Amino acid sequence: MHDYSGKTVFVAGGTTGINFAIAEGFAKAGARVFVVSRKDDNVRAAVEKLSAIGPEAAGASADVRDLAAVEAAFAACVEKFGAIDVLISGAAGNFPVYANALSSNGFKAVIDIDLLGTFHVMRAAFPHLTKPGAVAISISAPQAVLAMEAQIHVCAAKAGVDMVTRVLAMEWGEHGVRVISVIPGPIEGTEGMKRLAPTPQMQEMAAATVPLKRMGTGADMADACLALASDYCRYISGAVIPVDGGWHLGGASQAMAHAMGEARKLGLVKTGD
Ligand code: COA
Repeated sequence: MHDYSGKTVFVAGGTTGINFAIAEGFAKAGARVFVVSRKDDNVRAAVEKLSAIGPEAAGASADVRDLAAVEAAFAACVEKFGAIDVLISGAAGNFPVYANALSSNGFKAVIDIDLLGTFHVMRAAFPHLTKPGAVAISISAPQAVLAMEAQIHVCAAKAGVDMVTRVLAMEWGEHGVRVISVIPGPIEGTEGMKRLAPTPQMQEMAAATVPLKRMGTGADMADACLALASDYCRYISGAVIPVDGGWHLGGASQAMAHAMGEARKLGLVKTGD
């Protein structure tokens, strides 16, 4: 069991889904956790739950597309809890749509949240990170490494996120800061799964295409992040690490092709044809 007592963990996008599960994992391990997301109500609810689990939790609402708002959130965190030991950058947006039906603004919406948002979080975090010793983990996606139909915007954005990881690992290494990306598999109960695999059949297909033959859980993601941010992984930086039961080997593309085939039949996705 990893012990994060006395550590400060900042989770961008940390009020729901995978990111909340990661925040929960760090709270259980004794960390002070600060969560940020767009909606005030989500922030309040997450802080209440996290306060019941760990020593202390707080949060702020900010849109990662707005650098000034992100900077203000970091200032609030540091004022309350001190320098940041672990940064989780996981704010993301997604909807399935074929390229021929995607508007310029739709493509930009996802690039702005996932890629520009990641840059904003990293840029605003750096002055407040514990140096040496901090670890920054971005939540990437299988789309970063596998082409997937109806995901051109997300594939482009998440490939960019992993390059942000690699460049910052080079630039921040001399400050003793490690930078990592993790690639989740299909994680049960998340907004992303609801959007990309909206029927039980689509979710079963997703699980069947994972070499380990099951969907992942929030706890799977949290435990991986607890390990990666710990001293056991002190020589890992610039790495893009799948935490997905092997799904990145090809199953993710297969599952998406199946889901989109069904979605087309049901009229759930725009194709532009
Ligand atoms: N198919 C095609 N285009 C879509 C779409 C869909 N299902 N959903 C949104 N868009 C387009 C919109 O039409 C708009 O383009 P337009 O101005 O040319 O019409 C553009 O995307 C922006 O939409 P908007 O609703 O204004 O964006 P937003 O900034 O409020 O929301 C999203 C961002 C679109 C990513 C939204 O899905 C979101 O907030 N998601 C957050 C939650 C989430 O996705 N979680 C899963 C993470 S894996």
